[in-house]
Amino acid sequence: MDTKQLKKKYIEFFKSKGHAEIHSAPLIPEHDPTVLFTTAGMHPLVPFLMGQPHPQGKRLVDVQKCIRTQDIDEVGDDTHITCFEMLGNWSLGDYFKKEAIEWSWEFLTSKQWLGLDKNRIAVTCFAGDKDALKDEEAYKIWKSLKLSDDRIAFLPKEDNWWGPAGNTGPCGPDTEMFYWKLNDRPAPKKFDPKDKNWVEIWNDVFMQYSKTKEGKYELMKSKNVDTGLGVERVTMVLNGKTSIFEIDVLKPIITKIADITGKEMHHSNERSFKIIADHIRAATFILGDERGVAPSNVDQGYILRRYIRRCVRHLRLLGADPANADSTVELAKVVIKIHGDDYPLLKQKSRFISEELKKEQERFQKTLDKGLKEFEKMALSMADIDAKSAFLLYQSYGFPIEMIEELAAEKNRTVDRKGFDEEYRKHQELSRIGAEQKFKGGLSEASEITIKLHTATHLLNEVLRKIVSPDIHQKGSNITPERLRFDFNFDRKLTPEEVKKVEDEVNRLIKEALPVVKEEMSPEDAIKKGAQAEFGARYPSKVSVYSAGKYSKEICMGPHVANTKELGHFKILKEESSAAGVRRIKATLE
Ligand code: ALA
Repeated sequence: MDTKQLKKKYIEFFKSKGHAEIHSAPLIPEHDPTVLFTTAGMHPLVPFLMGQPHPQGKRLVDVQKCIRTQDIDEVGDDTHITCFEMLGNWSLGDYFKKEAIEWSWEFLTSKQWLGLDKNRIAVTCFAGDKDALKDEEAYKIWKSLKLSDDRIAFLPKEDNWWGPAGNTGPCGPDTEMFYWKLNDRPAPKKFDPKDKNWVEIWNDVFMQYSKTKEGKYELMKSKNVDTGLGVERVTMVLNGKTSIFEIDVLKPIITKIADITGKEMHHSNERSFKIIADHIRAATFILGDERGVAPSNVDQGYILRRYIRRCVRHLRLLGADPANADSTVELAKVVIKIHGDDYPLLKQKSRFISEELKKEQERFQKTLDKGLKEFEKMALSMADIDAKSAFLLYQSYGFPIEMIEELAAEKNRTVDRKGFDEEYRKHQELSRIGAEQKFKGGLSEASEITIKLHTATHLLNEVLRKIVSPDIHQKGSNITPERLRFDFNFDRKLTPEEVKKVEDEVNRLIKEALPVVKEEMSPEDAIKKGAQAEFGARYPSKVSVYSAGKYSKEICMGPHVANTKELGHFKILKEESSAAGVRRIKATLE
């Protein structure tokens, strides 16, 4: 069974249990200040896990593309990747542990579905601590399915707890399912979660608590289920493979790397092969996302740059021709071929993907050799790499700090990371390097401010069309508790008069106290009624449309304030270029 068949089966199974299918959300979140990327299927659903009704009901199922850079140092083994697809089924205040666990078991083991060997399955449950009780409920359900005590382990919060997304909000214990991956050695009677041959394949999260600002865990009235099944890992075990790099969506990339470098993958070089395969897939998906970005030195663009540059270095380690700046493009073409049917935007954006990869590879190859020579000199003259030297490699040769750390680690050295960060801060206003966690205050604290900024974004979008040009459309949006950021197509700088007029008009609308109203309808009706839609987005059969008075209308998941008068005073902080033909406005509410 390949990944396509697995995804199809999963959706079919949960549809048969009354779930509505939703499409994968973009990899780059729009209104969630806590993460740079969608790291799990639950991220785009946070507002609904917090109580907002979902237009498609209380039982949902999906395939979500994810980027999880937290695992980046583990890439190189047989089961870790940072770019993957996650299957998920959700109960929004509907079914709970019994159905979730029984359905997981049925899907995994029933001959009609995956037919995995029950004797090779083990699970973990939450052990309990001062905040929350041991999960006896989940344990009993597993027992009723005839799982033996030897195959059920109880683990603490670090392992068997999920959420909240920020510092506060819905969270709870989870139960994780593991599969014994070896075919030539029977699964040990006693399950040892530390044994790497037991591979985690599925996680059922039971969101029954809400963490408060004071750090207390309160039981929630409306309980949710959030599950995540790793497509690549399950395909691996279904095919009796021991490495995910042997399955349909990764093997062709490995083959292409061998082709480009003239090397076969074996024990001594497999780490480079696997890093390149994972990173090129991630880079292609980020560039080809609905909200795709180009490489840069901040936020998602910086992570993308890191992915591409690390690919380039590992290609060189494998002996790729230093004069060839097309290898990342050739690899991305393989990725697009593999995933293009399921993610058609990858095909539509293939030119952008190729151009950006080539530019970035050329840029980095210009300085890579010199930088490596410089690094060798440094390594000879000092034990660990000091902050100034690391910063020189970063600034003059474009080495991402994580790459410098990797180079140092290969020589059993460390880098003065703290000193580097200070050095970096001296040169930049704000250090964002590696900062996946952007707002520490937690989602519910952040949400009040971000909801307002979100409504202000809708007003700004409409006002730009009225005042500057009717052809303007949103190209991107990002909200942090400090500011909104709005990208739109336009080919010149706005004049100071235009900026002032836009600002004044938004403030006039705020003063007009327009009610913000939500309606539900088909996407076709929404567009007919003049609602703004996102380029490339695939909408479900029913969507929410938010209008501010008669003024603005957009297909949007929300949430929004009830009335524009709640927004206060709107102020534009900056108007600048973001990319060719794209302008960017940063604004805030005072
Ligand atoms: N959100 C859970 C996970 O990603 C299901 O593991």
